[in-house]
Amino acid sequence: MRIGLLGFGVVGRGVYELTAAREDMQVAKVVCLEDVTLPDAEVTRDFQSILNDDSIDTVVEAMGGLHPAYEFVRAAMEAGKHIVTSNKALVATFYDELMPLAQEKGLSFRCTAAVGGGIGWLSELERSRRAQKLEQVRGIMNGTCNYVLDSMARLGLDYGEALKQAQSLGYAEANPSTDVEGIDTWHKTILSANVAFGISVNREQVPVCGIDKILAEDVAAFAEHGMVCKLIGAATRGETGISACVQPTLFAKGTLEAAVPANYNLITFRGESSGIMSFYGQGAGRYPTAYNVVQDCVDLLEGKGFYSPYGEKTEVSNQEEMCYYVRGEEDAWLAEHTREHWGSGVITDLVPVQQIHSWRKAHPNAFLAALPEGE
Ligand code: HSE
Repeated sequence: MRIGLLGFGVVGRGVYELTAAREDMQVAKVVCLEDVTLPDAEVTRDFQSILNDDSIDTVVEAMGGLHPAYEFVRAAMEAGKHIVTSNKALVATFYDELMPLAQEKGLSFRCTAAVGGGIGWLSELERSRRAQKLEQVRGIMNGTCNYVLDSMARLGLDYGEALKQAQSLGYAEANPSTDVEGIDTWHKTILSANVAFGISVNREQVPVCGIDKILAEDVAAFAEHGMVCKLIGAATRGETGISACVQPTLFAKGTLEAAVPANYNLITFRGESSGIMSFYGQGAGRYPTAYNVVQDCVDLLEGKGFYSPYGEKTEVSNQEEMCYYVRGEEDAWLAEHTREHWGSGVITDLVPVQQIHSWRKAHPNAFLAALPEGE
């Protein structure tokens, strides 16, 4: 396999290093803006040089962001090159264009590193759906948010300091608001649901609430009640259709989720035969992510395409009800639904997921977190 590598940042450099000693694949050209010299690969700023090189059969995209990643990947596919990418924003956003194109052209398209960093999550969903119907995907999917929440809860760091540390460790996206506002988890949730259920969820109907409004006083109120907050992306296929959302969620101390430290991810599927299966590992960082890119390249050499056939656009309903912790911006609706007070926040009675996310859109400075079932 001769690879054209797009990007030489955290992930791209890792891919170059991990492939350097392999005989079955070789990074032949690198497109990047940095001034680097490599002993065994041509470095260029000109993407056309990869596009027009017939000896390059596979493009590994590790640039991140939507543009020009989308234009480059699309052009590479039009030119008949296979794709491996770690870019969840790209795949989740252009799913309805890139998947049919890959199918039509008979190209492999793999993106295991896009969800869960070094965890073999999408590749396990691919295996799992061969043998059973998947009912739910759910978990901690963003290393930066987990690092921030864990540092606040365990070490008493304030939000800004914890985020700075996550950035300096290379976990955060170029624009960290993508992490803390939940957008990164949103992309990963959409992609997981699409693969698990063989559909294309209507992503505009998947609400997202991040952790950017959390305060030390919220964390203290949760601790007083024996709870820890995590950012959770979840999608469920039930009798009434698909539910999916991204939201801070409380877990009782002693549960698996509550114990997840630092930048680690914990992602779980529920299948009709297997029941619950959880996957734990480093969800971000150079080598874990590059490791899964290399795994995808090996899968590609073995002829694997995408994880599931492209499925039709599917509506999301979110009619199930949950109780929430909410702090800030009290109004008549919140007063009507308040069951008790926790510090400066309130606990609501059961409210539909769709409804509380609509309320939050109108109150963007409020912080909310779903309570565990039965609380
Ligand atoms: N910014 C992402 C995270 C990188 O923190 O999880 C891995 O997708």
